[in-house]
Amino acid sequence: MTAQPRPSENAAATPATPPPGCPAHQGARSLSGPGFQTDPFGVYGEMRGEHGPVAPVLLDGDIPGWLVLGYRELHQVTSDAELFTRDANQWNQWPNVPENWPLAPMISRDQTSVVYATGEDHQRRAEAIGEALEAVDPYELRSQAELIADRLVDEFCHEGEAELIADYARLLPELVLARIYGIPDAEGPALVQAMNDAIDGKENALESYQHVYLVMRQLASAKRTAPAPDVASRLVAAYRGYSDELLVQDFIVIMTAGHQPTADWIGNTLRLLLTDERFALSLSGGRHSVGQAMNEVLWEDTPVANLAARWATRDTTLAGKHIRKGDLLILGFHGANTDPLVRPDSDAFTEGNSAFLSFGHGEHRCPHPAQEIAETIAKTAVEVLLDRLPDVRLAVPSDTLLWRPSAWVRGLSALPVAFTPAPKGAR
Ligand code: HEM
Repeated sequence: MTAQPRPSENAAATPATPPPGCPAHQGARSLSGPGFQTDPFGVYGEMRGEHGPVAPVLLDGDIPGWLVLGYRELHQVTSDAELFTRDANQWNQWPNVPENWPLAPMISRDQTSVVYATGEDHQRRAEAIGEALEAVDPYELRSQAELIADRLVDEFCHEGEAELIADYARLLPELVLARIYGIPDAEGPALVQAMNDAIDGKENALESYQHVYLVMRQLASAKRTAPAPDVASRLVAAYRGYSDELLVQDFIVIMTAGHQPTADWIGNTLRLLLTDERFALSLSGGRHSVGQAMNEVLWEDTPVANLAARWATRDTTLAGKHIRKGDLLILGFHGANTDPLVRPDSDAFTEGNSAFLSFGHGEHRCPHPAQEIAETIAKTAVEVLLDRLPDVRLAVPSDTLLWRPSAWVRGLSALPVAFTPAPKGAR
């Protein structure tokens, strides 16, 4: 990666973009605040009403960007990697980004993972990741997911109550992914703790990230020495010619990009099944309702609500807005999926319609085999839980459930439930 001038070096040469009072950013809304948790439909609806499908927003530190919340426009942005690049070096706001910017872990010039790669380099790495994941045996994956789900339910099934986010949804995907990647079982519990702490930005986030990094480094070196039939070994072989550092960065991506949204997909689906009376009748009787609820969640409460980012490589127009070279665009998956142009009746069931943009689109979309892995893990998690706790119900009023305080992810902070305790000695 080429060295970039530090902010102070080019601040004078590059005018602050946009200048204070820039008409394009009048009425810009901050991309944070409780509305994104309590009433995202209302917030995106207001933005759409005021600005149309591409709305000016302010990130932490009042750094300007655009939120693409129209379905058509998001499709257009993600389809055209030449005009809307993943290369963060293009950003015209670097001179204005403060030291210790809270969004630095998400938007940074120093990132070298596949998520920020472009052109042939990206193509080669994305293909290698896709192939390494595609080779996962779906029956083996399902049986590993069942085994781990059962083990987690064993921990609380005698209690009569549980908190399904901390005790179930936020443990399961990582533990299953660790198995298929080839991470030793003994590493699983500490790794899941570290990943969740890093994702939540807890006080020990840096330490936690370092733990994840270390496990992935050890994984790379272990699989180089002794390859096995697992995802990590296949990636090691496919990344011949790339540095270990880069391999480790991509290991971290496939672990974190896989764990968190899948955990939220499980949590959001369980919430829908337990709170929406449209599902109540079929909950005990029909398995098809699990798949239906999962699909519904991807339309209504998709785990990756907003994602940073793409950058315009030249001046252009999008939905009538003048986008300048180097402007940042946030991918508004939640807004696009609930765009009235594609979902005029938001109460109507989506009935297996999978045209949502929840997994992205275009070159950088979530690899297809990754989507299938996420679906298998999430479906197994929900089905095992309902099988094991057939009378599971919400333990608090549904309107007291809290969403994680972030405009970027859509997932519950907690999901307390009650159920008839399993007799001691029985599973
Ligand atoms: C509910 C589950 C999941 C959701 C909603 C989701 C969503 C997404 C989204 C929105 C993107 C970015 C698209 C873009 O920038 O255009 C992405 C990228 C990615 N996802 Fe997923 N994902 C999920 C599960 C997984 C799983 C289980 C894995 C791995 C096993 C995974 C691996 C990746 C990778 C490697 C990328 C980067 C692709 C690239 O930049 O070329 N994801 N995902």
